[in-house]
Amino acid sequence: MAVKGKQLYEGKAKKVFATETPDYYIVDYKDDATAFNGVKRGSIYGKGVVNNKMSNIFFEILEQNGIPTHFVETLSDRETLVRAVTIVPVEVVVRNLVAGSMAKRLGLEEGMELSRPIVEFYYKNDELGDPLITDDHVEVLGLATAAQRDEIKALALKVNSILKEFLLARQVTLVDFKIEFGLDKTGRVLLADEISPDTCRFWDSTTGDKLDKDRFRRDLGGVEEAYAEMMQRVTGGAK
Ligand code: TMP
Repeated sequence: MAVKGKQLYEGKAKKVFATETPDYYIVDYKDDATAFNGVKRGSIYGKGVVNNKMSNIFFEILEQNGIPTHFVETLSDRETLVRAVTIVPVEVVVRNLVAGSMAKRLGLEEGMELSRPIVEFYYKNDELGDPLITDDHVEVLGLATAAQRDEIKALALKVNSILKEFLLARQVTLVDFKIEFGLDKTGRVLLADEISPDTCRFWDSTTGDKLDKDRFRRDLGGVEEAYAEMMQRVTGGAK
């Protein structure tokens, strides 16, 4: 059992702690919710528990399908043991349907299906508001090597096809999502951070109902209920 050491980092939704060995960290999920780069703040009751559990279920499925991840084991309702990585400062977004910032930026209607999944890179920098960057920027600004970037892009598309199929069987359309990658001390690329209703757009595949953080971002109400509904679907009703 890992021992929780000193706090290394506090983000908007999670805290990261050292353990007794430098190879592992403990992630602790909070109920705090922010949007628009921290301008909108609130909390979603029980969110940390849902996100911890759901993210770990997704990471296990992805591992079983050949995606290397930082996930080691669930420690408690809100805590998970992960491999220590240095996060690549790039937010990787995969989109199947047009929504959110893509709809806004390009004047497109939300819900339009793309002819194939696309990958976007955003520079992880709160002061700059996480700007959209190109594949070339990632390499030339030294955020990742060309080989790491290409691997990240290929892994992101593979994550998409695995999760898209899993979710569709549960009547959920995976519209888009954001993932992050890290490098372990040998330089290996691992999927890191979380995959949860905070970081994905999940739409009920029949009704189109939003089952994700857009309910908080857009003041739609029913936020906790949407997170609980997603948890039900992902676990197939099991506890
Ligand atoms: P976007 O349409 O606002 O660019 O969001 C794309 C996806 O990324 C969506 O599923 C929500 C997720 N996302 C995050 O996880 N963190 C963020 O800070 C933002 C802006 C989006």
